Amino acid sequence: MQYFSGTKMISLKIWPRNRFLFGWRILGNVTQNGNGLSYSTNPQDMEYAFEMACSNIRYGPGVTKEVGMDLQNLGAKKVCLMTDKNLRKLTPVKVAIESLERHKINYKIYDSVRVEPTDQSFKDAINFSKANDFDAYLAVGGGSVLDTCKAANLYASNPKADLLDYVNAPVGKALPVTHTVKPLIAVTTTAGTGSETTGVAIFDYLPLKAKTGIASRAIKPTLGIVDPDNLSTMPERVAAYSGLDVLCHAIESYTAIPYQSRGLRPANPNLRPAYQGSNPISDIWCRHALQITSKYLKR
Ligand SMILES: NC(=O)c1ccc[n+]([C@@H]2O[C@H](COP(=O)([O-])OP(=O)(O)OC[C@H]3O[C@@H](n4cnc5c(N)ncnc54)[C@H](O)[C@@H]3O)[C@@H](O)[C@H]2O)c1
Repeated sequence: MQYFSGTKMISLKIWPRNRFLFGWRILGNVTQNGNGLSYSTNPQDMEYAFEMACSNIRYGPGVTKEVGMDLQNLGAKKVCLMTDKNLRKLTPVKVAIESLERHKINYKIYDSVRVEPTDQSFKDAINFSKANDFDAYLAVGGGSVLDTCKAANLYASNPKADLLDYVNAPVGKALPVTHTVKPLIAVTTTAGTGSETTGVAIFDYLPLKAKTGIASRAIKPTLGIVDPDNLSTMPERVAAYSGLDVLCHAIESYTAIPYQSRGLRPANPNLRPAYQGSNPISDIWCRHALQITSKYLKR
């Protein structure tokens, strides 16, 4: 793949999709490779489907002021407004609070979100949520805030669950989420994680010094608010890293193993992971993202 960036032509060498995989293990007609992926000599056993659970997004300069009405429309009686201590003082949170008050929404603020969350900071937010019996969530911030809010909602909606129950294997048990979580409106104040659209919550698991996460369609925000006005206070470095985040996501997704080569088809559709590998639809977006980052990232 080739495209132009300023005066330079960039050549992007995409690794062939049909990689050579090491360390095969044979179990009847099922073969397991060193990456833990299973393959079968019987095509009927192999994955044949991918599922795209689309996200609800509202884009527009100034749309943050609508969130109070959205929560009123949802019939919310007690809302958790989640943010971090820095954003608490800035315009995006002020606009969100004005909107809640204008629409007489009862809310409580949690502003102790840790930038680059950990299992400990997730637990703190979960405990706050459990103690308050919220019926809706409003997250205003970057990926750290949005991810923490997804985790708080997930575990407060099923208080008996242990943190590791829904965490990706091998760190956690990767159990499917079968309970219903509360509505969550995610107002992003950065432009790279895409967390306002994803069913993912990332954190550092301190006991193993590992970065891991929870991936489930169940924790996708009910509505993502993409308001360009919220980005005007973004520090220069955060803006630059957001751009690199877009670039990395696009490369990672485009070069991922295709969904039909990932292994055996699941016995139950709810065992199909939220991230299934590359597919023809995400390939279109990846190529577009690579083109726009090559045009705009270095300015
Ligand atoms: N859930 C996902 O799909 C997903 C994807 C990629 C990354 N992530 C995670 O997201 C986190 C990083 O999120 P991020 O890059 O959005 O930044 P962040 O939320 O970690 O925020 C970084 C800093 O920028 C500040 N900030 C954010 N928006 C601002 C604004 N508009 N004005 C002024 N200051 C602002 C914050 O207060 C914070 O100090 C990481 O934990 C990463 O692992 C999640």
